[in-house]
Amino acid sequence: MSGRGSGRGSGSGSGHGSGRDADVVLATSGNAESRAESRAEGGMESSAGNIEGGFGKTVFVLATANSGKIREMRSILGAAGIDAIARSEVGIESDIEETGGTFRDNALIKARYVCKLSGMPAIADDSGLVVEALGGAPGVDTSSYGGIALTNDERCRFLIKNMENVEHRAAKFVCTVVCVFPNGDELIAEGECSGEIARSLSGENGFGFDPVFFIPQIGKTLAEISQEEKNGLSHRGAALRALVRLMAE
Ligand code: IMP
Repeated sequence: MSGRGSGRGSGSGSGHGSGRDADVVLATSGNAESRAESRAEGGMESSAGNIEGGFGKTVFVLATANSGKIREMRSILGAAGIDAIARSEVGIESDIEETGGTFRDNALIKARYVCKLSGMPAIADDSGLVVEALGGAPGVDTSSYGGIALTNDERCRFLIKNMENVEHRAAKFVCTVVCVFPNGDELIAEGECSGEIARSLSGENGFGFDPVFFIPQIGKTLAEISQEEKNGLSHRGAALRALVRLMAE
């Protein structure tokens, strides 16, 4: 973590960068693809965060309230030796309005908000399902697809119903993760996981659309595999591993 932000990179698009060219790293993981970039505002050498774990390690706050995401993110980051706590553990309970038009914008909104309130480095994920036959929908609106009040199960059934007569079932999960540091530094990474929309729900694990997201290479949905297997294949796993690589630079 110590050498992060050592003078490389700064992006455009969020209004946060300082105008230098973005430094982009491409990587792959399982059937998932990831992409990462780092950028910084102001001084590039300052330290990350101000709350430390038991052995002097930086602790990161996860800017999500979704328990499925928290479980996955802690497990993936934990495997890389990174301590992360839920935002509720630092008293941030209020909903964060996701007003951005892209996964990246929404992830930045959440991470900046939690970093500002907590004074700690914050990691946010924004993710969703992109279905080719639906022209990329539900995309950034995945969490409310079919209506805000639906359960995960009802949302999966709504998607299946919408695709009842559709032969072309290709889809992907997309995830952007960002880490925002109190000094204004920002790291951004993306991951994807390709698959197909199944015709019925299978499996009890995971969350969201996992029971209908079928991966042909393994012949199972994401809800039929263990958390560890999903971490190795998923958009979130790919994006977080790319983020961890950036942190180590
Ligand atoms: P948001 O990132 O909070 O806007 O929510 C993204 C939505 O996409 C979630 O509420 C889920 O419905 C869906 N989603 C994102 N990642 C996954 C995943 O790994 N499995 C299943 N559904 C997911």
